[in-house]
Amino acid sequence: MCIAEFWSDSVETTRALAGALAARLPAGSLVLLDGCMGAGKTTFTRGFLAGLGHPDPREVASPTFALHHRYEGGRLPLNHLDLYRIEDESSMHRQGIIESLDDHEAITVVEWPGVLGALQERALVRVSLVPVGDTGRRLRFTFELSAAEGLLEGLLSALRT
Ligand SMILES: Nc1ncnc2c1ncn2[C@@H]1O[C@H](COP(=O)(O)OP(=O)(O)O)[C@@H](O)[C@H]1O
Ligand SMILES: [Mg+2]
Repeated sequence: MCIAEFWSDSVETTRALAGALAARLPAGSLVLLDGCMGAGKTTFTRGFLAGLGHPDPREVASPTFALHHRYEGGRLPLNHLDLYRIEDESSMHRQGIIESLDDHEAITVVEWPGVLGALQERALVRVSLVPVGDTGRRLRFTFELSAAEGLLEGLLSALRT
């Protein structure tokens, strides 16, 4: 594992970090987003979609109401899951959520991933967002080692611009 921490002082910086990550991930990647309500997980997902070259990232719904959105039109499709309301693994199966984890054509981003249990081990990157005041966010990226090198460079360059 490789851990890197970044400081974001604005929505734009959070989105830029997400976009830099998205631009460099291969199809089939699983990305987990940790953080409390309002930490910026959905904001991060919007930046992520922009980084995939999706035509209109503002479209990203703040789900918690719908559990699964699939966005086409960028470099790769994005599955966006919000598991806040999911109670256990059996209800994930009932709602077809597990299938999107096996989607090797797309990238999958998951908010509230705890209910995935051991399936979380498949993640290439875990991002944990911690609010500091109104507009500050600490972003901690935990990469699977094989993925770390190119991705870190991309994140650093997002902060420089
Ligand atoms: N640096 C920042 N990064 C991300 N979001 C921020 C930041 N500063 C303020 N915010 C605000 O925090 C809120 C995050 O909401 P959201 O992305 O829906 O969180 P979550 O999906 O984690 O519940 C938004 O209103 C956003 O404008
Ligand atoms: Mg959210």
